[in-house]
Amino acid sequence: MKKYPDWLKTAVFYEIYPQSFMDTNGDGIGDLQGIIAKLDYIKELGCNALWLNPCFVSPFGDAGYDVEDYYRVAPRYGTNEDMKQLIAACHERGMHLFLDLVPCHTAVTHPWFVASSKHERNQYTDRFIWTDCIWHDTDGLNALRGYSERDGSAIVSFFSHQPALNYGFYEVRRPWEQPADAEGPRETVKELKNIMRFWLDMGIDGYRVDMAACPVKNDPEHKGTMALWTEIREMLDTEYPEAAMIAEWDQPEHSITGGFHMDFTLNGGLSNYTDLFRAEHPYFSAEGKGNAAAFMKRYLEASELSGNKGLICLISGNHDTDRLARRLHGDELKIAFAFLLTMPGAPFIYYGDEIGMRYIEGIASVEGGYGRTGSRSPMQWDHSKNAGFSTADESRLYIRQDDAADRPDAASQMADPNSLRNEIKRLIALRMAHPALQADGLPEMINSGYPLVYVRKNGDERILVAINPSAQTNECDCAIVPAGELYRFGGQAVCDGKKLVIPGQSVLVAAF
Ligand code: NOJ
Ligand code: CA
Repeated sequence: MKKYPDWLKTAVFYEIYPQSFMDTNGDGIGDLQGIIAKLDYIKELGCNALWLNPCFVSPFGDAGYDVEDYYRVAPRYGTNEDMKQLIAACHERGMHLFLDLVPCHTAVTHPWFVASSKHERNQYTDRFIWTDCIWHDTDGLNALRGYSERDGSAIVSFFSHQPALNYGFYEVRRPWEQPADAEGPRETVKELKNIMRFWLDMGIDGYRVDMAACPVKNDPEHKGTMALWTEIREMLDTEYPEAAMIAEWDQPEHSITGGFHMDFTLNGGLSNYTDLFRAEHPYFSAEGKGNAAAFMKRYLEASELSGNKGLICLISGNHDTDRLARRLHGDELKIAFAFLLTMPGAPFIYYGDEIGMRYIEGIASVEGGYGRTGSRSPMQWDHSKNAGFSTADESRLYIRQDDAADRPDAASQMADPNSLRNEIKRLIALRMAHPALQADGLPEMINSGYPLVYVRKNGDERILVAINPSAQTNECDCAIVPAGELYRFGGQAVCDGKKLVIPGQSVLVAAF
């Protein structure tokens, strides 16, 4: 059995928050036709795979992570026909497409939950997790209470308007807790498979799985949850061997061992990802006070613990983090991307990070975004009205845009050879040209302080990567003598077979 489909070896993903990417009908909200119109932009950058946040029918209390109909594109984005067109347009360009699977909860308006809330027993009574009496304790789980004619509290999984679908409990402690193999939970799994098949049959290439660690409750070691995803993986291996799934989890020893092809490094997760780009002293800041050692150590350990069976994927950010450009600026961003794009796994670039879009400070929450709203503002394409995102009146835009006179935009950066976007484009091209820099294999660490130095290998190809984000010249012991420079940013590093000396804010990628 393959570890993962071959196409992942060279995959570089681009995450699209559909609301904010491109509006083609002037309602101030992005849509699927807008994504189709901009596929060539993404391809020109070098990305060859997309992940779209949920784009299904929803009351949008959590930006679409509260699904009301898993089988239908939300009208504001278009129709299922538009989705078919998007899939075809991706495939014509050799690109792959992931949708977002939200398995743990629905919206309160989902017909299953409406039926489940009824007093009379029906087909959906056990689709969600309910206590047996509104006054009974909820075993430490958050619940929606006093909302239904049914006498009970509905366990929720994120916001209180997101009732938890019932996949059962690993440790059953209360009379209302059902084991994972009970009829209700098994029906939920059946439906989950149907949902997955529906879009896979339409042609998508896989899923990003929301809150992947959480379906089975009272499951401290994730044993029940891993069994669930292993079952889903078996379905993929048999029915859709070219499809893949990535977990929102950040615990590869559980996610990848439990059936996922890929897992993310996430803010606040086990990976120490925050240290790199978003800590008080991020490693990639020129002040040179950060720490990448804990991240690298955990990265290597987590790979080993997961049997090196899957991909640990770095993100530039996502719709839940603050923007990369909130803490890093100018060359710091370029150097951070040099790291992201020379590490194993499949890198994920959040839309707009390629032009250094800023976090919008101090705006009101939109669709349950709260502090995340500032990272979800509409893409800035060019100098025209609403930065080319929409022809709508500014007041109707989904989220207010960056109003700074010098806000970055894609068109200007494409025209400027020294822009962040063009640096990223060069780095993706470098990765595509060198198997040693692609998904497979672990980095062999030479130094984890300043500079960060590692070796990537594939077959006969051996590549040295040296990155010095700090403004100061730094050095470390290094027995490698580079033979051919493949990429350089900043000053010239010198490597004499004993020491590597690299000027401030510089990167060297060299074959040896
Ligand atoms: C994680 C998603 O990334 C986030 O945006 C969402 O609010 C929660 N899961 C709940 O689905
Ligand atoms: Ca629109």
